[in-house]
Amino acid sequence: MSERFNQAAERWDKGDMRQNIAHAVFQTIASRISLLNHMSIMDFGAGTGLLSFKIAPMVQNVLGVDLSEKMLEQLHNKNSPCLSVEAVCRNICEEPLDQQFHGIVSSMAIHHVEDMALLFETFHAHLKRDGFIAIADLEAEDGTFHTHGNEGVHHFGFERDTLRETIENAGFEHVRFHHAYTVEKENGNYPIFLVTATKKG
Ligand SMILES: C[S@@+](CC[C@H](N)C(=O)[O-])C[C@H]1O[C@@H](n2cnc3c(N)ncnc32)[C@H](O)[C@@H]1O
Repeated sequence: MSERFNQAAERWDKGDMRQNIAHAVFQTIASRISLLNHMSIMDFGAGTGLLSFKIAPMVQNVLGVDLSEKMLEQLHNKNSPCLSVEAVCRNICEEPLDQQFHGIVSSMAIHHVEDMALLFETFHAHLKRDGFIAIADLEAEDGTFHTHGNEGVHHFGFERDTLRETIENAGFEHVRFHHAYTVEKENGNYPIFLVTATKKG
């Protein structure tokens, strides 16, 4: 699966679609969650850092987590003395980090992960007390979103009620869904949600 993203990495930021999604997801996160300058944040499936670099100026640090070396190479290339994002290439479900965060954000990554229960339990374990998640992905779709094929796609978006239950079962509360953006393609419209929740005491 990381091969798909290794191949796409160089061209990932070209064109408007991914930039527009990251912008809208960032705006939706910032309007719902107070991002504070003492916070350490994980960006799960950070890729080339489209979301990470929007969050980074508002918090103490952002750690991008991804499975694709080449996507993270693009992220590293964006670092400057004024603004930088650290990154780690690791499957945190299998090999957790020895670090906890104030919050975990993610954009368009979780449909590439098969085991949602394990993923949200892993998020829970990587959060400090009262930590938050702010995760954006596709509403349930019919499998036509990925026009280049569905290799490595484990979920055709998500039904809100099913995902809410998974998140609550992993130990989160105050689960809320927000509309973040709609991708308009020739073959249809694909709404994207942001789900926020906090780690239960
Ligand atoms: C569709 S891209 C989104 C990248 C970025 N968040 C963005 O909005 O441009 C999905 C990313 O998730 C990463 N990914 C997929 N499965 C992962 C996993 N289990 N752990 C970490 N990253 C993963 C992929 O390598 C890829 O970079």
